[in-house]
Amino acid sequence: MFNLENFDIKLETEVIGRNFIYCEEIDSTNSDLLSGKQNYKKNGTVLLAEKQHAGKGRKDRTWQSAKGLNLTFSILLLKESLTSININHLNFAASLAVANAIENLFQLKTELKWPNDVLINKKKVAGILTETSIKGSKIERAVIGIGLNLNQITFQGEFNFPPTSLKLELREDVDRENMLAEILNNFEELLFELESKPATILNEWRAKCQMIGDKISIIENDKVKSGIFYDIDENGFLLLRHNDSLEKIHFGDVSFI
Ligand code: BTN
Repeated sequence: MFNLENFDIKLETEVIGRNFIYCEEIDSTNSDLLSGKQNYKKNGTVLLAEKQHAGKGRKDRTWQSAKGLNLTFSILLLKESLTSININHLNFAASLAVANAIENLFQLKTELKWPNDVLINKKKVAGILTETSIKGSKIERAVIGIGLNLNQITFQGEFNFPPTSLKLELREDVDRENMLAEILNNFEELLFELESKPATILNEWRAKCQMIGDKISIIENDKVKSGIFYDIDENGFLLLRHNDSLEKIHFGDVSFI
């Protein structure tokens, strides 16, 4: 069971997670928050589910997570809090928040993989899926969904990248309440920074991405492209260098060659 009191003691935010909704089972925390129903009207609402029956991953994949062992949650940001933020940057702030939280609590070295995976020892420990709902031509709400493997030690199924969990890396159980509070504390700070100094967030992200400068291949719209991971641009798109030209990649999966 998730201990709300322990979580609350550690939460130091002003907005993020102050409206906290816990549920046992749900289809997807992202889809539910995006729907805008019930009491999903407060900026910074966090919805945590012990089990998702239709957890979503990037590129129409699914996100599987054993009940009660990990963290699967989403953060709601309403349009008024998004006016001075580039939506693409939210992924970078979220993956940094997870990586920083892991490093602060456990001194484990993390690495970030474009666009928003968190890795430990070259294995994926967390994934992030940011979705928006649009009204007219304006973004109405953004939902940042985070799946972080904590205490699960076996993984079944097919993965585009080998999975791991904090327990597998640390060889001990991890306190979910403490971890969630640490992520939200970090995320709120990074969100403030995103408004005033987005370049700093992208630089912090770059510093944790060890693939920059490496030869990679990337699958975008079913096409495999190869080249050097040159950099990310100011919107967070990947710049792939091949034959002395730079190609901007908007969406894809990176792997080493
Ligand atoms: C990925 O790496 O493909 C992204 C995975 C994102 C999973 C999280 S779990 C909580 C939230 N709800 C969802 O349905 N997906 C995200």
